[in-house]
Amino acid sequence: MFEARRTRPMRIVLASSEAVPFSKTGGLADVTGALAKSLDQLGHDVVLIVPDYYLLRQSAKGLPPIYDTGLKLTLTMNGRPITCSVNWSTLPGTQVRVLLVRQPDFFDRRQLYQEHGHGYVDNCERFCFFSRVIPEICRRMVLRPDVIHCNDWQTGLVPALIHSQYAGSPGFENTATVMTLHNMAYQGRFWHLDMPLTGMDWRYFNFHHMEAWGDLNLLKTGIAFADQITTVSPTYAKEICTSDGGYGLEGLLNHRRNDLVGILNGIDDDVWNPEKDSLLPSPYSAATRSTGKPKCKAHLQERLKLPVRQDVPVLGMVSRMADQKGFDLVMGSAERLLKQDLQLVFLGTGDPHYEGQLKELAQRYPQKVAAEIGFDESLAHQIEGGSDIFLMPSRFEPCGLNQMYSLRYGTVPVVRKVGGLADSVTNLNGDPASLNAATGFVFTDYQRDVFAQTVERAVETYRNKPVWDRLVQNGMAQDWSWNRSASRYVDVYQRAHGRMAARNAENRC
Ligand code: ADP
Ligand code: GLC
Repeated sequence: MFEARRTRPMRIVLASSEAVPFSKTGGLADVTGALAKSLDQLGHDVVLIVPDYYLLRQSAKGLPPIYDTGLKLTLTMNGRPITCSVNWSTLPGTQVRVLLVRQPDFFDRRQLYQEHGHGYVDNCERFCFFSRVIPEICRRMVLRPDVIHCNDWQTGLVPALIHSQYAGSPGFENTATVMTLHNMAYQGRFWHLDMPLTGMDWRYFNFHHMEAWGDLNLLKTGIAFADQITTVSPTYAKEICTSDGGYGLEGLLNHRRNDLVGILNGIDDDVWNPEKDSLLPSPYSAATRSTGKPKCKAHLQERLKLPVRQDVPVLGMVSRMADQKGFDLVMGSAERLLKQDLQLVFLGTGDPHYEGQLKELAQRYPQKVAAEIGFDESLAHQIEGGSDIFLMPSRFEPCGLNQMYSLRYGTVPVVRKVGGLADSVTNLNGDPASLNAATGFVFTDYQRDVFAQTVERAVETYRNKPVWDRLVQNGMAQDWSWNRSASRYVDVYQRAHGRMAARNAENRC
């Protein structure tokens, strides 16, 4: 499946606060699980390190067996000794070793980061602990990583620790760091008095390293110290260097522009593939979709207690309910859209404000709107399979995975032209020639009328069967698997190595 590897295998430690199938709140989990698998298929030696959300995994389905490594580690956090144990498992279908950091006080919670819209008050301590354990695990288990690949603020401290405390020490002679930015809106900002939790010297609490606007900032820390920085789409890589997209860190990102690259996420073809998706009532391929997809649609309508009708377009949305995702546009144009003969299907959880609004909309339009509040993997797949149109009118979107799942599932996306949405969906415009390459509907201005018009255009096109079929075919024919992107990460790892070697040589001088 993958091209033969030409480089020597690397030992890659992938550090993340969530990874499928062990834990998930959003795309980060999909990406770390799938990237680990693809790097393994490319022949690299991958170790994935995640927190062990022990309570949550008790109810998870399809997890591989998890064992105790016997390793226990104690760190002193702000004068207090804190101990964790390390469990291990294997990523299904791969040779990837998964190490799960078990610290019940920090990770045996009902959620990963927040409850009722409020982050846990000890999030800084929880993820500083997790980050500080990662190099210790590498040392004690003699992992000797070539690269530690960190993701988001939860592991942003790791590059700083490697750079300032571990570089060149036994087991870290060859260790470069890479920081991937999945979302600049979440930076891990905490008040300055949390600095001792990081285990870093106060001299790093400055504008060039760990401080931003008076606070300790763990994402900035990662950006400042990592050998290479990536983000999850080429367009987002440009956006975050501007004042609109950088959330206050655009100065530093511009400064590190030569070390920053945007690599579009892929999708895990074993999990998100309509041909072999066991969560669909009737899996289908591009060739069999005319029989398979209607069955999925009827099943979805039945499951959500909507009238079972093939002639009505079903518009789906699966999303974290956050400002980022454009819910204000959706809510602001819902009444207008519902004047038409269509069904709206929502699955999501997050901001209680949007949850309430959606529930209320579903109560007012029981024949036209279904809103499921919660996290439901099977329904997410069934919405991708059973809808005709998928809505992603994001205010900003670093990459976005659901639009790629939609393309794969023959569900035509309506997206805003930002970040990874701009990089993955091609607009059908008035020019008939655009149908050759079009895969969806794209709008630019973040305005409810513009969004509503675009949805109306999609619904109108849905009724023009030959055009619609072509759009669906175009989307289903595309390859969004990790084949495209995984090897680009390997290039980044190599570049990170080059920079690390130069840095070490400089230190020796
Ligand atoms: P983000 O990471 O910003 O939330 P992405 O589009 O990258 O957005 O990824 C979202 C992932 O989370 C997708 O796999 C999507 O199906 C899943 N998801 C989001 N909300 C839910 C939910 N309520 N139930 C099940 N899956 C969900
Ligand atoms: C973030 C972004 C999303 C991206 C995901 C995985 O949560 O919001 O756009 O797809 O990370 O990289």
